[in-house]
Amino acid sequence: TVMAFELPALPFSYNALAGKGMCQETLELHHDKHHQAYVTALNGFVDSKPELQGKSLEEIILAAKGKADLAPVFNNAGQHWNHILFWNNLSPNGGAIPGALEAKIKQDLGSIEAFKEDFKKAAISQFGSGWAWLVLTPSGKLAVTKTANGSNPLAEGQGQALLGLDVWEHAYYLDFRNRRPDYITNYLDKLANYEFAEAQLKAA
Ligand code: FE2
Repeated sequence: TVMAFELPALPFSYNALAGKGMCQETLELHHDKHHQAYVTALNGFVDSKPELQGKSLEEIILAAKGKADLAPVFNNAGQHWNHILFWNNLSPNGGAIPGALEAKIKQDLGSIEAFKEDFKKAAISQFGSGWAWLVLTPSGKLAVTKTANGSNPLAEGQGQALLGLDVWEHAYYLDFRNRRPDYITNYLDKLANYEFAEAQLKAA
C-alpha cells in the first residue's frame, strides 16, 4: 500500500488568532477545506502514478517541477509543503522579533523597517495567487522573495524558507476583504512567528 500524505493539525486552536486578524472561520476553511483539498488531490496523484510512490514531499516537488504533464502534482504538492510551513509561521504571540534574527535582518537587509517594506512590496506585487518569503539563500544571506501559485523557494532554488505568507485570497478575504496590504501588515506586526523563523535560521 502507498503511504498517504496527511494534513497536520494546526499548532494552535481555531480561535487562537481571532483577536489578531485571522478569525476562526478563516482557519476552519483554510486548514480543513483548502489545505485538506491539496492533500487529498496529491494522494490521488500518488495513488495513480507509480513513479511518485515512495518519494518524500520534497522529492515529489522537485521531480514534478517544470514538467507540463505533472503540473497538477507540482501545484498540490507545493501547496501542501507551503501550508505546512504557513501554520508554523503563525502564532498567537507573533510579531516580536527575537535578537539573533533581528541582528541577521539588520546585517543583511538593512533594518527591520526595510525588511518589512521589502516583504510588503513582494507580497503586494505578487499578481494573482502566490506567496512571499523570507529565505536564507545558499550564500548564507537573508533575502525576501515571492513565488506564484503553488511554487516555493525549494522548487525555485532560492534557499531555505524561514517565513512564508500565503497571499491567495482564501487566506485573507474573510478578515480583510480586498485589502491585501492590510493583511500583510497585520501578519508582519501581529501574527508572524519570528521565533520559528529564528529556530530555522539557527538550525541551518
Ligand atoms: Fe492557502
